[in-house]
Amino acid sequence: MLSDKAKFAIQALMSRYPDKRSAIMPALHLAQRECGWLSDEVLVDLSDLIGFSTTEINSVATFYTMYAREKRGEHTIYFCTDLPCALRGADELMEHIEHKLGCKAGQTTADGKITLKDAECLGGCDHAPVMLIDGEEHAQDLNVEKIDAILERLKSNS
Ligand code: FES
Repeated sequence: MLSDKAKFAIQALMSRYPDKRSAIMPALHLAQRECGWLSDEVLVDLSDLIGFSTTEINSVATFYTMYAREKRGEHTIYFCTDLPCALRGADELMEHIEHKLGCKAGQTTADGKITLKDAECLGGCDHAPVMLIDGEEHAQDLNVEKIDAILERLKSNS
């Protein structure tokens, strides 16, 4: 369920979009940042605020991998294994990440800190391999050292 603060922020955000449909994605983003994931209750709140049915909002939330319709860890890593990244070692790096985290892609670490997701192209092929952290931070030109540093940072942050 969204806080009053988040509801107010979404209402303010909607005033910036003449077409209310354009507010759906930023509203989903804001709601996910507050709640960590998009529960059915959050979709009902968004439906009331934005004026579209929960089915319409859910269709947007399920179309994009950056939105979580299931509970996730405190941080979510989207690691690209699409062809350009795979050609630059993404598959081996994914195995490394899974080993470091002790969980497979699609799962969350036992301490609930990090969810690992396999992603398709994240739009940074010229700097492959690429990962997206918490839907906001792109990490590029990844190698084992960079990944280890990122995982350590995420494990120590909450
Ligand atoms: Fe990985 Fe495009 S294929 S970022």
